[in-house]
Formats: sequence, C-alpha cells, structure tokens
Amino acid sequence: MAKFRKFSLAALLCCLASAAAFAQSPLTGEDADSYKQRMEWFGKAKLGIFIHWGIYAVDGVSESWSFYNERVPYDKYMDQAKRFTASNYDPKEWVDLIEQSGAKYTVLTSKHHDGFALWNTKAGKISAKKSSKAGRDLFTPFVDEVRKRGDLHLGIYYSLLDWSRDDYPNATRTKVRYNIKDEPARWEKFKKFNAAQLEELNSQYKPDLFWFDGDWEQDAETWDCKGIIRQLRSTNPNVVINSRIQGYGDYSTPELGVPVVRPASRYWELCYTMNDSWGYQHQDTLFKTPQTLLRTFVECISMGGNLLLDIGPKEDGSIPEEEVAILKEFARWTGKHKEAIYETRAGIPENHFHGGYTALSTTGDVLYLYIPGKPNESVDIKGLVNKVKKVWVVGSGCELEHYLINDISWSEVPGILYINVPEKVLDEQITVIGVQLDGPIRLYRGEGQVISVND
Ligand code: GLC
Repeated sequence: MAKFRKFSLAALLCCLASAAAFAQSPLTGEDADSYKQRMEWFGKAKLGIFIHWGIYAVDGVSESWSFYNERVPYDKYMDQAKRFTASNYDPKEWVDLIEQSGAKYTVLTSKHHDGFALWNTKAGKISAKKSSKAGRDLFTPFVDEVRKRGDLHLGIYYSLLDWSRDDYPNATRTKVRYNIKDEPARWEKFKKFNAAQLEELNSQYKPDLFWFDGDWEQDAETWDCKGIIRQLRSTNPNVVINSRIQGYGDYSTPELGVPVVRPASRYWELCYTMNDSWGYQHQDTLFKTPQTLLRTFVECISMGGNLLLDIGPKEDGSIPEEEVAILKEFARWTGKHKEAIYETRAGIPENHFHGGYTALSTTGDVLYLYIPGKPNESVDIKGLVNKVKKVWVVGSGCELEHYLINDISWSEVPGILYINVPEKVLDEQITVIGVQLDGPIRLYRGEGQVISVND
C-alpha cells in the first residue's frame, strides 16, 4: 500500500494529462457543455471520407489551383465543364463504399475555389446543372443517400473564396480585380452572395458539419466569420464547423502533414490524400498502400484525432479502382477492430511502448496496442502500474500469454509486461491487442529507482 502511495501522485498526474479534456469552447462566450455535446459524435467518429469532385477531374488538373497558379488559362479550365458528364455517377455505390469503410462521416465539395457548384445554386451562375454537360444537381442525390444511413454524418465542404466571381478581389495569383478598401460596396456584394449560398446549403441539407476552406485570403472581420457562424447556427444550432474560418471553428484541420506531437486542440482531424492529389488526376498513380494509410489512421487515433481520407472520383462519377481497393481494405480492418476504434481516446506516452501505437478505451481501463508488421515473438510495456486481467487479440478474442519481468517487491518501479504474439494471430496489416486493466490506467513516469547504501 505504502509502495503504491509513493508514486500514485505521478501516476495520477499522468492520467490527468492524457485525459486532458481541453473541453473549452474556442468560440467566445459559448459554454463548455454545449460545445462538448455538439462535438460528441465527431470525437467518436475517428474516420471520415473526403470527396473532391469537380470539373477539374475532366483533364485531371489540380482543383482550382491550376488556373490560379496560371498553369492552365482560366477559360480552358472552365471549358472542362462542357465535358463533365457524371454519366456513371451512382451515389448509392459511393455511400455504400464509404459506410463499409468504417467512416462515420463524409465531406463532399459543394464548391471549390473555382466557384463550380455541385448543387443547384440560385445565388450563383456556375453550377453542375446550369453550366456542365451533366446538366443536373449532383449534390442532392448524394445527400439523400447519406441520409438513408443511420450512422453516417454529412459534411459540406465550401470554399469561402471564389476566384471566378467578378466581385471577389483575386482572380489568379497575379490578377487582382480590385481592392476591398477602394470598393467596399463590391465586397459587400460578394459577402451577400456567400451568405446566400450558405443559406441554401444550410437550409436544404441541414449538414452536421461545415468544412470551410480558402479563409486565408481575408481576415475574420472581412469575411465576417462571427456573422457566418451565427447565421448557420440560427437554424442549425449543432452544426460542427472546422477551423478554416479564421480561428472561429470547433476543431483544427492539419493537412497532409501528420502531427508529430498531439495537437493542442481537443478535437482535430488530419485531412489526407490517398495519392498526391485531392481531385482525380490521370497521371497520379502514386498511391499510398493500405498499410501506410492504416498506420496513419491509427496514428491519428493514438493522438485522439480523426482521419479525413480523400477520394477523387473521375469526371463520370466512377471512383478510381485503387481508391475502391483502399476503401475495401479499410472496411475489412475497421470491421474487425471496431471495439478498438470508436470508443477510444488518446493513448499513453510513447516511451511505454515501442511496438507501434496505443489508445485507451474511453473508460480508461483497456489499453489497445496497434502493431504494424511482425513483432519479434513478443511486445512489452513499461511502467504499467495496474494489474493486468486479460490480454487478447482484438477481432478474434484469442487470449495471449503474458508475464511480468523485474516485478521487484521492494521497488516502486513496476515490472515490464511481456506479451507473446505468435505469428498465427497477426493481422495482414495491423494487429490490435487489448490489455484489460484492473481499473483506469496508472503509469509510472519516474527515472527508475536509484539504490544507495543509505536506502
Ligand atoms: C487546400 C486546398 C485544396 C484542398 C484542401 C483540402 O487548402 O486549397 O485544394 O481542397 O486544402 O484540405
């Protein structure tokens, strides 16, 4: 007992730190409880599927940036709309794949920086219905399909900036139409247009999430970020909003670069491509392997975040086969390891486990180990104060042999837990092991015990 009390403070501090619920709302004045409530589904979702679909898929050029960076002339870029057919678009097939992948939300580009709207906007002139060969609203059928599924949340990507509009200041990286200071009325017109489009999306689809992008060109006041959020929440009070709205959002969105340390914001999401492009590009065959992507996924889980994994359908609406294969492998892996995905929070500091990644059950008494590749016979965990009740392979339930070494009676340093991992229990991608503890996890975080003659 005395032994326990001696280092229980360090253990307790560690528990507090890992549970560190930065449960405070980033929105000024909002009470922490309603923020927490609104974010609940998002925190548990873990996996989302991002979809970049637009006219850029016709020639396979980079979405909007290709004309902004003057690699493709604007008219040539927009000309793709005439060949954008959506002729094999099957939203049911999309949503089946998304749902099976284990994703709990999906975010579709309603409008990228090029101003091309997938829904039938009344506020703007450029849309799939009015301007493309498809000649119809492509957004609503997707939403209808998502709404048929009980367990899938709807996110709408919307670019605040619109390089196609005459009342938007920037046209390309070198062409500036006007200066807001000199023509405030022109800017007001653009703001009205943005508000009108957002109103359409919000009232027609009541999304669970708005995924803003392109906020970097103006500051919060110029966009009127507070006003935009107020407008959306007035009829859709629980809508979650990402951070790309000049600091006014609910969660942060690191892009492509996997965080090295756990992001400071309580909720966060890594948006990530399967190859090197967001939208479909014919020449980009540099796909990451399912193993690499699943590792990134568990890395996010181990730091308490979500992965928003992108697909880029072709102009006809079909999903490239490499992307289908990746989604199917996600389906297999998430289906098998459900219990170690959705009801989890960030894991323990890396020094305790070098065999892969870790997460904790939300109750804190199950430690999950995610082990990529083949371990060398056994894996080990250092500094675990708790008694271990059971160790098993998640997915099969097969119990594993485990034992403590250096469990020294006179030392406050806990013994090292060794778990035998025979080859026959390994998953093809990432093996998950559950360690049932006797209560919420307690960790020894000291430097080891120094023995001196006076001890
Ligand atoms: C970027 C880009 C964009 C892409 C997005 C996805 O900010 O502007 O092309 O849609 O991130 O995160």
